[in-house]
Amino acid sequence: MATPKLRSCLCQQSMLESPSFVKWIAKFAPEVLRSDGSPPINRKFWEWGFIVEALSERGCLQPGKRGLGFAVGKETMPALFAGLGCEIVATDRPSDDSADVKRWESTNQHANTLKDLLRPDLCPDELFAQRVQFRAVDMNHLPSDLCEFDFCWSACAFEHLGSLIHGMKFVEASIDCLKPGGVAVHTTEFNLSSNTLTPDTGPNVIYRRCDIDGLIERLRSKGHDIEIDYSTGEGVWDHQIDFPPYDWEHHLKLLIMGFVSTSLGLIITKDANAMGRQKARVRLLWSKVETVIRRPFRAVKRRLT
Ligand SMILES: C[S@@+](CC[C@H](N)C(=O)[O-])C[C@H]1O[C@@H](n2cnc3c(N)ncnc32)[C@H](O)[C@@H]1O
Repeated sequence: MATPKLRSCLCQQSMLESPSFVKWIAKFAPEVLRSDGSPPINRKFWEWGFIVEALSERGCLQPGKRGLGFAVGKETMPALFAGLGCEIVATDRPSDDSADVKRWESTNQHANTLKDLLRPDLCPDELFAQRVQFRAVDMNHLPSDLCEFDFCWSACAFEHLGSLIHGMKFVEASIDCLKPGGVAVHTTEFNLSSNTLTPDTGPNVIYRRCDIDGLIERLRSKGHDIEIDYSTGEGVWDHQIDFPPYDWEHHLKLLIMGFVSTSLGLIITKDANAMGRQKARVRLLWSKVETVIRRPFRAVKRRLT
């Protein structure tokens, strides 16, 4: 029987320790595996494993597929995907003197150039240079030429765009970057303490279930596909909360700004019948041109009838 595909869900110990996640972690971060081959109980590796496994299951990680990474920081995914034959546009926030950029630079989570993403063990440098481009892109203002990708992803990023609303607008805009039937996988912070109170503006926001349900409803109303499971897991470490200063060793559920939180992964498949953004624009333009061209003929016809 075929193993069911991942759905959008919350970080769980059993998934992190599953053979498919461990197989990917052994590729993109072999140095973190313990001597018995088990992964660190840390949600960062769950997030990256979730993104890679979701894309792999959907046939995205194959030669010739085009992928777009947002806020890649020092992720190893661009190199991993390029090593598997994909063409990648890796992006991160434009560099400036802001406290926000300094924060990511000081924690080694910001990319400025292609060099920041090199991983010769995953993709030889020469192939990497052919298959990966780097662009500075603000997730709050996606350029319109970022379109027609087979897949896109972001890890731990859309909660840093200024407000809950900014993050959700980004998720919806990221779908415009895809071909019909393309796949978006994004991870973010999820509030396990409250479905009412939450940090809703500022450098870090935390999504409540009501926010995610609203986002899913909007995505579905546009014809996109997304299934979600809000189970929190039954593993020993699913019930432990890491308090600041964090221990990091057992870090699936944690206290952030007074709220118990965990990671949420979203998998969205774009409506297979949706027109690409460029095609939609060309059609709109053409219909306007047609209207203008036909206007004099209609006027003549009206006079004659
Ligand atoms: C927590 S780090 C995550 C980095 C990387 N995705 C990872 O998983 O290690 C947050 C990332 O969001 C990026 N970021 C913050 N605001 C952004 C914006 N407005 N546009 C694009 N990237 C942004 C930062 O530069 C940083 O790379």
